Amino acid sequence: PVIPAPRSWTPAKGVFLLGPAGIEGAEGVELVEDPDLSPEGYRLEITPDGVRLTAGGDPGFGHGRTTLVQMAALADDLPCGVIEDGPRFGWRGLLLDCGRHFMPVEVIKGVIDRLAMYKFNVLHWHLTEDQGWRLEIPGYPRLTEVGAWRVGPDGNRYGGFYTASDVAEILDYAAARHIRVVPEIEMPGHALAALAAYPELSCTGGPFAVETQWGIHEDVFCAGREETFTFLEDVLTHVMDLFPGEFIHIGGDEVPKDRWRACPRCRRRIESEGLAGEDELQSWFIARIEDFLAAKGRRLVGWDEILEGGLAARTRRPIVQAWRGHHEATVAARAGLEVIVSPTSHGYLDYDPSRLDLARVFSFAPVPAELDEEGAGRILGGAANLWTEYVPPDRVDTMLFPRLAAMAE
Ligand code: ACM
Ligand code: ZN
Repeated sequence: PVIPAPRSWTPAKGVFLLGPAGIEGAEGVELVEDPDLSPEGYRLEITPDGVRLTAGGDPGFGHGRTTLVQMAALADDLPCGVIEDGPRFGWRGLLLDCGRHFMPVEVIKGVIDRLAMYKFNVLHWHLTEDQGWRLEIPGYPRLTEVGAWRVGPDGNRYGGFYTASDVAEILDYAAARHIRVVPEIEMPGHALAALAAYPELSCTGGPFAVETQWGIHEDVFCAGREETFTFLEDVLTHVMDLFPGEFIHIGGDEVPKDRWRACPRCRRRIESEGLAGEDELQSWFIARIEDFLAAKGRRLVGWDEILEGGLAARTRRPIVQAWRGHHEATVAARAGLEVIVSPTSHGYLDYDPSRLDLARVFSFAPVPAELDEEGAGRILGGAANLWTEYVPPDRVDTMLFPRLAAMAE
């Protein structure tokens, strides 16, 4: 499958044959591989005699093809000329929050189509939240029997979840469009849906309901109980089976420490690990998960709060996704870490356009001005985030466009 042509598309000569068989089956376009180009880079040469597409690898052929289809959609004839194109950043992402509102597979595929059109290369799939756990996990049936559903505004059960075959379908669809999918499993906070299913993983023991209000909630995974880590490692093992990519996002943002402060098990953990307090307990928690992922050859990505409590005891190097601002990106890069920049100021497409307008998104500069060359080299790229507290599936495109196009620029 390839990106469908716009409805008004009248195929130009030479482009017509770029049909559903994909670029490999195309005639009328000469394809040349050039290892000197980056894997995502391409050169498109259009002359009266034909079209030549030179690329560094499959993604480059895909991007070049997308450009050709877009040009054909804009004019009856392709203008002659040469386009040399390639991304400045290796990480060009969009987060789609499927926790606050469950997004049907077809909606996600639609988002992937649009990401491909704008040559994004990462779909950050936010799969767990206080308001819903969206991924079926073998051995933990209550996650999806209980955790995937909340009481909707009309009093009915509201929610949904993805099976392993849904995930495979999304991954295949994304891979065909040269987009990697990075799953996010939130810990230790934003986990009330999981705790509603398994309250024994909390500090107080519950009971809890899947949350119906937005915000930050005090009940989080207990860092003192070994059962918490057994559970999370089982979940992550299944996630790694489903998602072959290198990066696993574990959230780490917005973790109130009230429950840990009052919990005898968490206090014992702080003591036995020689930690200074709850902030270091968060740091210890993330480092333990990072060790688990690293042993399986994966890299942890976390929101910038994973730096709270310090990095001193770390042996590994997480990737930090800075959301609070460029300052957090600067701190992380100066600490020697690789960084994805998706600040509220420019990248939060859940904000109303009256608050975060098109011009603001256009002005987004992922690399903080304060960084020297070495620090700037640690900025992997940027991302837009679509949180969905107020965005049910039928409002996704309204919120993304036209601002996602500006983010692509
Ligand atoms: C976030 O917006 N809490 C990552
Ligand atoms: Zn606890």
